[in-house]
Amino acid sequence: MKAAEIREKFLKFFESKGHTIVRSSSLVPANDPTLLFTNSGMVQFKDVFLGTETRPYSRATTAQRSVRAGGKHNDLENVGYTARHHTFFEMLGNFSFGDYFKRDAIHYAWELLTRVYQLPPEKLTVTVYHEDDEAYDIWANEIGVPLERIIRIGDNKGARYASDNFWQMADTGPCGPCSEIFYDHGPQVWGGPPGSADEDGDRFIEIWNLVFMQFNRDAQGNLTPLPKQCVDTGMGLERLAAVLQHVHSNYEIDLFQRLIAAAARETGVSDLAHNSLKVIADHIRACGFMIVDGVIPGNEGRGYVLRRIVRRAIRHGYKLGRKRPFFHRLVEDLVGEMGAAYPELKAAQQRVTDVLRQEEERFFETIEHGMSILDAALSELAARGAKVLDGELAFKLHDTYGFPLDLTADVCRERGIGVDEVAFDEAMARQREQARAAGKFRMAQALDYTGGKTTFHGYDKHVFDDAKVVAVYADGTAVPSLRAGQQGVVVLDQTPFYAESGGQVGDQGAIGNATVRFAVSDTLKVQANVVGHHGTLEQGELKVGDVVSARIDAERRARTARNHSATHLMHKALREVLGPHVQQKGSLVDPDKTRFDFSHNAPLSDDEIRRIEALVNAEVLANTPGIARVMPFDDAVKSGAMALFGEKYGDEVRVLDLGFSRELCGGTHVQRTGDIGLFKIVFEAGVAAGIRRVEAITGDNALRYVQDLEATLAGAAAALKVQPAELAPRIAQVQDQLKALEKELAQLKSKVASSQGDELVSQAVDVAGVRVLAAQLEGADVKTLRETVDKLKDKLKHAAIVLASVDGGKISLIAGVTTDASQKIKAGELVNFVAQQVGGKGGGRADMAQAGGTEPSKLPAALSGVKEWVQAKL
Ligand code: ALA
Repeated sequence: MKAAEIREKFLKFFESKGHTIVRSSSLVPANDPTLLFTNSGMVQFKDVFLGTETRPYSRATTAQRSVRAGGKHNDLENVGYTARHHTFFEMLGNFSFGDYFKRDAIHYAWELLTRVYQLPPEKLTVTVYHEDDEAYDIWANEIGVPLERIIRIGDNKGARYASDNFWQMADTGPCGPCSEIFYDHGPQVWGGPPGSADEDGDRFIEIWNLVFMQFNRDAQGNLTPLPKQCVDTGMGLERLAAVLQHVHSNYEIDLFQRLIAAAARETGVSDLAHNSLKVIADHIRACGFMIVDGVIPGNEGRGYVLRRIVRRAIRHGYKLGRKRPFFHRLVEDLVGEMGAAYPELKAAQQRVTDVLRQEEERFFETIEHGMSILDAALSELAARGAKVLDGELAFKLHDTYGFPLDLTADVCRERGIGVDEVAFDEAMARQREQARAAGKFRMAQALDYTGGKTTFHGYDKHVFDDAKVVAVYADGTAVPSLRAGQQGVVVLDQTPFYAESGGQVGDQGAIGNATVRFAVSDTLKVQANVVGHHGTLEQGELKVGDVVSARIDAERRARTARNHSATHLMHKALREVLGPHVQQKGSLVDPDKTRFDFSHNAPLSDDEIRRIEALVNAEVLANTPGIARVMPFDDAVKSGAMALFGEKYGDEVRVLDLGFSRELCGGTHVQRTGDIGLFKIVFEAGVAAGIRRVEAITGDNALRYVQDLEATLAGAAAALKVQPAELAPRIAQVQDQLKALEKELAQLKSKVASSQGDELVSQAVDVAGVRVLAAQLEGADVKTLRETVDKLKDKLKHAAIVLASVDGGKISLIAGVTTDASQKIKAGELVNFVAQQVGGKGGGRADMAQAGGTEPSKLPAALSGVKEWVQAKL
């Protein structure tokens, strides 16, 4: 059974059991600071488990693209060394949100495995969490699994609930006991059942994990029951395919054949079982999809995980003799294999290729050097019989040659060497300390909040009068009240304040009543639908239960709205002018500007910028009203609304029609396009491979910008005494004049110098028939010095000459000796005799030599010694 069919059958089976098929979410979790990458199917439902978000269904099923590299679940180091670890994989799952629980979850799983996929029941072994008698009984009594194949697993990882059979997404969040189903690959494969000493062998392979979500774990490690019991299951598509295709390694399934063949083609390897091919095939999937979902190689966070994976792939290619970029060429094969199941991959093919190629080019510049250093170090270790690579060296490789630690470790591992990671971390920490200033993700502090949602009134109101204070926080913990002077976070049941999201900054304003005033400096989400007002209590006491009036800074909001609405128009205009490959990659909208990052490969030309500005301003002048409607997500996308990868959308979405744009957007906008006022792009640059950034301004900001420009121009025009319109020709004229003057000056200098030269003739003194001259020439450059020396040689006939000039603190020296004298007096030695005394050094031919110096004060003495020096030589 092919992987595509396995995926299809899974979804259809659960659909037949009343589950809604939900599309895979992005690898970049939306609004979730606890997680680097979507690592399992439940991530997009996290808030549903927590009860802070609702969906129109209580049963769902997905095939979710997932990455386990970096963070709590990290398999990167194992890829290439085991038969079943991947950085990227697809997880099949079914979910219940307060609907069915253990019984149905277990029955469904058994039915699907044994009836639909027709796995022999005797090949299956199950585990349960040691305290979970309920699950044990269902397996034993209802399903009829023989007791010797139901294994209880305790807290085998050293702490309460730290168990293979207790699943949690991250250090915080929903979690619960789980029951895992293992497939027995047979006694010919080494390994023991789960819980046994040999469990790490490859004989018993976990294929499906049924998690019974019951608790929420907070940052202190406390577990509180979820509002409803839920189910979250996950089955790795690749593992199941290996079982159903009767192969032992995941890398032998159909999904991987083409990628491994492509890796072999690009690296010139004929042995398809070569481990490096598996690594490359795995990594192209992870890298491809990460870029599809908006991640760009970088030095922090997700970008750094991507960079590590790309570089690890390249290193394996390098090992196989590839000395030039090759990895990006696998994108085409990846699209061929997975583009049908993931149209977003197909759509991004060119961008993914470009981003990878640029990252490759960059790394290939240094890999050779880095590898030779590492090789030398490893040979040296081997010679000494040592087993650990110095952490400082690993850091140097990281810092100077772009070798991520795990890449260095990967190379070392191949030779049975470890890396001193403690020393590496210390070196890293030292450097981090220095670079600390660099900007970071801004994340709202995690607050424990269990109350209801906040109703948002900010689309049409700036003030809301009867809001109730439902929670107050100081220093991150819930408190009953705030005192004057205290900083904190206030949650209201209703508010006009917009919480930062979708790139738009949070509102500022004030909350209060006759006796209380809380100044709001920022507004951030506490949860998906809960608004946190951050600020300082300036007056009175603010208590939970108080009724207050909430008022935003309307002027600031209006400026932000203008910029946000302009962003939509600009996004549309960018696509019209540059092409449909333009995709939003990030945005920041605040009262001052809109900053917009998007996929595009070349700088924008002046003409393109003008056209974009013209399109947006035409929409502004049309002054059409903005219309927002709430509709099901699928309808919205069908209607042509632009949805963004990496954004989390509910099933009901807000669609905003504004001028010629239609986008999914929860932000606050202008009433009519005309409210935007003048739109002006003021900045354009590249921010990463394949990503450009533009900044634009609107309204009174744009007016001020134009006025400032005008003032600058007027100032420049006044200085040149022309009208602004005549500035350009006038500047060209001034530059021409300047050039002519420079030329004239150079001629004059040389004339003056040569006339000085004439005077010098008389200064030459006779030393045994040779005329010796050592002098300083004011204002001469090297060329003039040289010409003058030549002239003097002609005139003096038998001569040894040194001329010097000083410009600032720099001395130039030229020595010339006529041919007849050059037997005994070498120009090079002569010039050095002087140069050494003035802090310099030089050299040249026997008849002409040049030098420099840095100590002008010593020059006269040095020159006056020349006569004696020549005398001694003759
Ligand atoms: N979320 C569970 C897992 O990833 C199903 O194993």
